[in-house]
Amino acid sequence: MTRPKPVRDLPWLRQISSFGPSRIVLTANNFRIFDHLEGRGKTARALSMLLQSDLRATEILLDSLVAIGLLRKEGVLYRNDPVASRYLISGKEGYQGDILRHYSSLWDNWSGLDRVLKTGKPFRRAHDHASFILGMHNLASLKTGKALAAIPLMGVRKVLDLGGGPGTYSMAFARRGLDVTLMDFPETLAISRKLIKESGLQKKIRLLAGDFTTDDLGKGYDLIFISQIFHAYAVKDCLAMLRKCRSALTPGGRVVVQEFMLDETRTAPVIGALFSINMLVNTAAGRSYTTGEISSWLKKTGFINISTSPLDETVLISGRKKGRSE
Ligand SMILES: C[S@@+](CC[C@H](N)C(=O)[O-])C[C@H]1O[C@@H](n2cnc3c(N)ncnc32)[C@H](O)[C@@H]1O
Repeated sequence: MTRPKPVRDLPWLRQISSFGPSRIVLTANNFRIFDHLEGRGKTARALSMLLQSDLRATEILLDSLVAIGLLRKEGVLYRNDPVASRYLISGKEGYQGDILRHYSSLWDNWSGLDRVLKTGKPFRRAHDHASFILGMHNLASLKTGKALAAIPLMGVRKVLDLGGGPGTYSMAFARRGLDVTLMDFPETLAISRKLIKESGLQKKIRLLAGDFTTDDLGKGYDLIFISQIFHAYAVKDCLAMLRKCRSALTPGGRVVVQEFMLDETRTAPVIGALFSINMLVNTAAGRSYTTGEISSWLKKTGFINISTSPLDETVLISGRKKGRSE
């Protein structure tokens, strides 16, 4: 049953115009304004010369960044607020600028929502693969610790990180001494290879280039991690993936799925419900799936001991393949 929502009048209407702050930050990030202002800061004139941007436009944008709290203005000098310094300076731990660049592409695609509503077809006009994959790294870097703490690793030796993208989770598994295979498309692996090399873990992670819907996954895995994959696919494809994973697992092995949390009404939490729109505009058949739906697929494809574990805005859903003697 849909839970009654609290009555929201004017504050709710104001929220609708929150596209303003979003666009301001995405544009500032696209021009790497926070990188340029780090340290002593700059005047609008100095920055506009550096960016070769229009002075009036630069001044208005900088003032609006001050208004929303990402910059500070001291006389004619603009400097980063600590929150911008912490998350929006490239190369810093916790950097989120890549995912913002990806959001900037998503902005273009979401602008086609009127059209998608009529046609039911995706409107994927913009995509920058490097920002997408590095953006996944920005997000996953904030939660590998919690995720690995929630995944039972006793007795696990060999792990498959299916659609592992940048390899953030692969690297976390490898740091625990596990033997990791990261499977993804070759264009993605070109990016993960660099990140893995920088971490010094290249000897511990095998990169398997391929399409997991059509190519062989290999065999003998004790754990298969499927993080943020299902939402891009139709139900029948998710079921096929689970069957394939089951065959690739050792007896007693586990599959662990991570997805945005969504309750059975499909309307809450907000982040999971709205992520369905992202999949509507970007994919032919994807959407957010509920914890109940994913658990039922695990059951249907022969997994046992199905359990769920919430992880901030996502949920881990795991199932075990029967052991030899079961
Ligand atoms: C949303 S990202 C998730 C990355 C990572 N698992 C994480 O949670 O951070 C989805 C990843 O799946 C990969 N992918 C999607 N479909 C695939 C397919 N059919 N075969 C191989 N990789 C695929 C994409 O290239 C991308 O790296």
